[in-house]
Amino acid sequence: MSQLFRRKKYNSEDKSTNLNRVLGMWDIVFFGLAAIIGAGSFSSLGEAIFRGGPGVITLYVICGIACAFTALSYAEFASRIPTAGSAYTYAYASFGELIAWIIGWALIMEYSFGNIYVAFSWSDYFTSFLESIGINFPDFLATSYPEALKAVQRGSEHQGLINAWNSAPEYFGFKFIVDIPAIVINILITALVYIGIKESKNFNNILVIVKLAVIVLIIAVGVSFINMDNWTPLNTQGVPDFMPNGFTGVMAAVSGVFFAYIGFDALSVLSEETKNPQKNLPRGMIISLVASTLIYIALTLILTGMVDYRKFEGVGDPLSFIFAPQNANIPWMEFTVSITAIIAITSVLLVFQMGQPRIWYAMSRDGLLPKRFASIHPKYKTPSFATIATGIAVGVPILFTDKSFILDFTSIGTIFAFILVNGGILLMPRKEKIKGRFHLPFVSARYIFTPLFLACVIGFYYWQPEFFHGLLNWSDPQDGEFFMSVTIFLILTALLAVLSLIKELNLIPLLGLTSCLYLLTGMTHNNWFWFGIWFAIGLVIYFVFGMKNSKLEKEMNGDLK
Ligand code: ALA
Repeated sequence: MSQLFRRKKYNSEDKSTNLNRVLGMWDIVFFGLAAIIGAGSFSSLGEAIFRGGPGVITLYVICGIACAFTALSYAEFASRIPTAGSAYTYAYASFGELIAWIIGWALIMEYSFGNIYVAFSWSDYFTSFLESIGINFPDFLATSYPEALKAVQRGSEHQGLINAWNSAPEYFGFKFIVDIPAIVINILITALVYIGIKESKNFNNILVIVKLAVIVLIIAVGVSFINMDNWTPLNTQGVPDFMPNGFTGVMAAVSGVFFAYIGFDALSVLSEETKNPQKNLPRGMIISLVASTLIYIALTLILTGMVDYRKFEGVGDPLSFIFAPQNANIPWMEFTVSITAIIAITSVLLVFQMGQPRIWYAMSRDGLLPKRFASIHPKYKTPSFATIATGIAVGVPILFTDKSFILDFTSIGTIFAFILVNGGILLMPRKEKIKGRFHLPFVSARYIFTPLFLACVIGFYYWQPEFFHGLLNWSDPQDGEFFMSVTIFLILTALLAVLSLIKELNLIPLLGLTSCLYLLTGMTHNNWFWFGIWFAIGLVIYFVFGMKNSKLEKEMNGDLK
């Protein structure tokens, strides 16, 4: 039993590594912006606005806060353990082997499965860009099979999906429908990451500069088209309302909104390639997170101010849509934004495709995965086998998954990982301050957390009274699942409040933990079901392979010199 919780000890002074240390602080910031701002804002933002209305801004703020606290926990971990592996490595040092494995397993949902959604979005923008220059790409070669099938089954009016189904050739009774651009971009990105970090870094920095310039342009051009009435559209009772579909409508957008924030944590896996990681990594992470949060808030205000939120139904390219003929009607902006979206989304693909192999590399070095995952290319100095394995892990599911499933799956896995990172910091003993390093300030939660929790509950009651009245109505056909999750969340937070009175806890990771727990209330039973299956498969692999081959196991048995 103790094997499951054996912890790995890390020496924060150990800077030995087989990887090249070439990244400075601004490279980390650039990688952060590259990872954070991508398919989430260029694609899933449209659907999020449609569900939540202008009030979805609230959710961006909530997610921003949750991620900011979590980034501080990541930064603290990264400054203590400057080695590759992200939340996985951190969990190994704080919770022990089993939880570390579970986190590593959950991170596959973030990195590899996240990239599947991003590849699909890339394909959407790529094909609409081709169309805008007069090249017609066949729908059945740019659509995922299950998406087309689902559209036909539910009688959807989505023209692209129905076209894909009707025009696809049939072989042996199967429709040939496959997203070729998504597969091709995955192969190209895998090849780039395989060749090496230096080439990727230069390419990445150019992509980010272009992306930021266009976002500034969207804000500058869009601001003069804002109609403030759009920020308070009529709700179902005909009353102007910032949240026309209520707070439950806003929370229904959680996967799409949270997805837009994923990425800052990917930076911690670069620590073995960063110069002076204790200093540059935490700073770079926090700067990139603050910048992208501000960008999101601005973009959401522009979009919801320019166009009525109801028009965003099924819109996969919301940032160019606002400049389309039926809206602001600025063709050159529509065209520019489309091209930039392709660039922005490419940069996200790149960062995630670099992150995944480095996690596997760390897990393999610890003996939890076969040795091949830790092999380093003699010339390029990259984790070559793990890079190719990532390409396959992203590429194969492109053939048989669809966007909304992947979005939910990625978000639930990532929030879960964030919860464990915050929990890990709560468990870590306080450390001595060392000059030049990031140091998470210690703010005692004892006299703050409980009053803060009560103030939030009371404040929320006055802000959204009708939400509270429905809270115990779990049988409500529309919102019952959400009410149930919120009740569980309130019970868990009340327990944390009691704990904070008994034990001396740091408020910062505690708030990170609580806010991430809150985000989980937006997940449906279906999301939890698939997450459970993934979790169970991971446990089986650990007990069959990882537990026996763990380096710590071998050290215990004296097999290792
Ligand atoms: N945050 C990343 C994106 O929006 C995953 O594409």
